[in-house]
Amino acid sequence: MTFFIGIDSSTTATKALLMNEHGSVVGVASSEYSFETPHPLWSEQSPSLWWTGTVESIRQVLAKTNVDVSAIKGIGLTGQMHGLVLLDEKGEVLRPALLWNDQRTAAQCDAIRARLGRERLIQITGNDALTGFTAPKILWVQEHEPEIWKRVRHILLPKDYVRYKMTGEFAIDCADGAGTILFDLKKRSWSQEVLTALDIPFEYLPKVYEGTDITGALLPNVAAELGLPAGTPVIAGGGDQATSAVGTGAVSAGVASLSLGTSGVVFVTTDTPAIEPEGRLHAFCHSVPDKWHFMGVMLSAAGSLRWHRDTFAPNTSYDQLLEPAANIQPGSEGLIFLPYLTGERTPHPDPLARGAFVGLTVRHALPHMTRAVLEGVSFGLRDSFELIKNAGVGKIKEIRITGGGAKNALWRQILADVFDIELATVSSVEGSAFGAALLAAVGTGAFPDVQTACEKAIQVTGVTKPSANSALYNELYPIYRDLYPSLSTQFNRLAKFSQTS
Ligand code: XUL
Repeated sequence: MTFFIGIDSSTTATKALLMNEHGSVVGVASSEYSFETPHPLWSEQSPSLWWTGTVESIRQVLAKTNVDVSAIKGIGLTGQMHGLVLLDEKGEVLRPALLWNDQRTAAQCDAIRARLGRERLIQITGNDALTGFTAPKILWVQEHEPEIWKRVRHILLPKDYVRYKMTGEFAIDCADGAGTILFDLKKRSWSQEVLTALDIPFEYLPKVYEGTDITGALLPNVAAELGLPAGTPVIAGGGDQATSAVGTGAVSAGVASLSLGTSGVVFVTTDTPAIEPEGRLHAFCHSVPDKWHFMGVMLSAAGSLRWHRDTFAPNTSYDQLLEPAANIQPGSEGLIFLPYLTGERTPHPDPLARGAFVGLTVRHALPHMTRAVLEGVSFGLRDSFELIKNAGVGKIKEIRITGGGAKNALWRQILADVFDIELATVSSVEGSAFGAALLAAVGTGAFPDVQTACEKAIQVTGVTKPSANSALYNELYPIYRDLYPSLSTQFNRLAKFSQTS
């Protein structure tokens, strides 16, 4: 029996997953950490956390499972997308990484649009400039920290810093490459036109690979530190959204996935580099070779429920919180929650958007508010789904639902009703790290291709069908949709009251 490791360097932890050659998970370990918000809208993390997290989680999973390490044939990498890691000529980290959820770069997004023209930017990269993406973070450093920019020689994304530590190679996969918006979406490579317009030297960027390619091998000293054989191949892998789609089997056109983590993602695979002309959906390369995908991202999905619980019902379990919400009538007696607690991406790319409960009366109690949170997040995700349906992706045959929030039957039912479509749950629960391990298995020949690996390793375990409540949600949805345009000016005006220095 041979084995593969998937490493996921997320915003809150690094996870190591061990999988056997049949695609069964043998063990998982993780090492947690936090990120810093030194100023409003900022979000930063030290790259060293991903490396110590990798060492700790790999050593833990090996200790737990006690496998013969010589049977480990490959490592696949994944992690939080879009983060900016800057290294000097010696490969030393120059400053904390700016993360995907950092919102400081609105001015740099405008500058990118001005330099390239918004239409041309979308034509080349498939995307508009959004604060979450990597390119505006580079411009921010150029502008605000010129001393640091002068010393930069290498630009990496979070998981590729882990790869550099493992192999000494500067490399990236196409999915994370596309998420920088320095990428030519059709050609699956860096765009010289974009790089020139943004004054970013081509040689600072890592070499591009497909998700299943081998990018290097474990260096002997690192192998000793990790407890693995020197020379173990390290596979490209992908950004966490693309590998999560692999981990749920959303790898062919028409199969969508809906992920309910801190952020919420609606994802659909495409056979061609399709673009939403207004750039309202993210259009990136998939970590499946020759596939692309559309995705809509809500920044606070299960994150909204966590905020709601922590704020209004601390020390309550999610089950205790959600049970009374099941007895509330759909529509929460006219209470609507807007989930823009950390700004929003899709369909309102607005760092200053805010959350809201709209329609409170004296009749509303905690269970109504809880149900309204589940419904509001579901409406927000439907916004992404509507954009995807209208982007010419053909028939969506199936939506596979994953992430912590998907474990709750009430939330799954509300989502099936709001989307008015069947939702499938799948056997794999480990998402991104599992997808990275599958890519490693394909890359080293254990499976012929990603689709076959997914068919063998992932089964549909249940289906949630829409109920009669769909009609009511269909009536409420337009009211939800009208709220952001009505409130966005006020959100903007409120922003200055948050500015603390
Ligand atoms: C995707 C995105 C987030 C991060 C979270 O575009 O920004 O999902 O990848 O890890």
